[in-house]
Amino acid sequence: MLPYTQQTIDTWQKYYESLTESYLFPNEFVVRTFLAHYPNLDMPHAYQGAKVCDVGCGDGRNLVLLHKLGLELFATELNERICEITKAKLADHAEHILADIRPGLNWQLPYDDNMFDYLLSWNSIYYMSGAEGDFRQHVQEHARILKPGGYLVCSVPAPSCFSLEGADELGNDLIRLRTEAKWSMLAGTIFRRFRDFDDIENTFGAEFTDFRRCRIQDDCYGLPLEYFVFVCRRKHDNRRLCGAGLDNEDL
Ligand SMILES: C[S@@+](CC[C@H](N)C(=O)[O-])C[C@H]1O[C@@H](n2cnc3c(N)ncnc32)[C@H](O)[C@@H]1O
Repeated sequence: MLPYTQQTIDTWQKYYESLTESYLFPNEFVVRTFLAHYPNLDMPHAYQGAKVCDVGCGDGRNLVLLHKLGLELFATELNERICEITKAKLADHAEHILADIRPGLNWQLPYDDNMFDYLLSWNSIYYMSGAEGDFRQHVQEHARILKPGGYLVCSVPAPSCFSLEGADELGNDLIRLRTEAKWSMLAGTIFRRFRDFDDIENTFGAEFTDFRRCRIQDDCYGLPLEYFVFVCRRKHDNRRLCGAGLDNEDL
């Protein structure tokens, strides 16, 4: 394990160990995406018995919703200790929720190929392994564990989000955070940043298609909470064609 990644893991472990109270309310836009109907969203809401993986699930707040919807729950967090904390919180929940939560990183997810109908990556896919990290590996790894045609529901910060304020550009679309605001624990963390939805579609388009867009622009008592949310589907035969030596331009 590279020292930078170990430091990230230690930071988040300390954070989750410090959360003595966790209310486990799902994010409003996860609720909207999975439950509601909108003009540009056609993700089927047939969840009973389908498999979902919540990558970087944190304290499990979104898993509570996914459980209510009848999905079979799988998830990842950074190490065994965080996975155990989250599993215990879910087991203590009034609904005694069971989830298979395994240690995993954005570029190395602990599940088989083609396993999931839905993937949720809510503010986690852009955490890098360091300044040399290759975000394409994150895209490929998330696609690998989704079934062809399966849905990725994803949120990433927009450029004006508080967490990116004053960040240093490292080149290759990577930034190092300087945030002094709410999450000062993230200072020094390296993110893949996205300029706009076209950037997102170009980056994820190697493996995903059928993008649906949603923008969160929220002035939360002076804290700008700004995110790009998108839903897309894993391409059907991209992997096989790439294996045959074809580029995306050939598709
Ligand atoms: C902002 S929190 C979001 C947590 C959760 N998805 C939610 O919505 O509450 C970011 C999460 O990403 C996880 N994370 C950080 N670096 C990661 C990496 N390299 N690979 C996978 N997950 C990572 C952290 O442990 C943390 O739980």
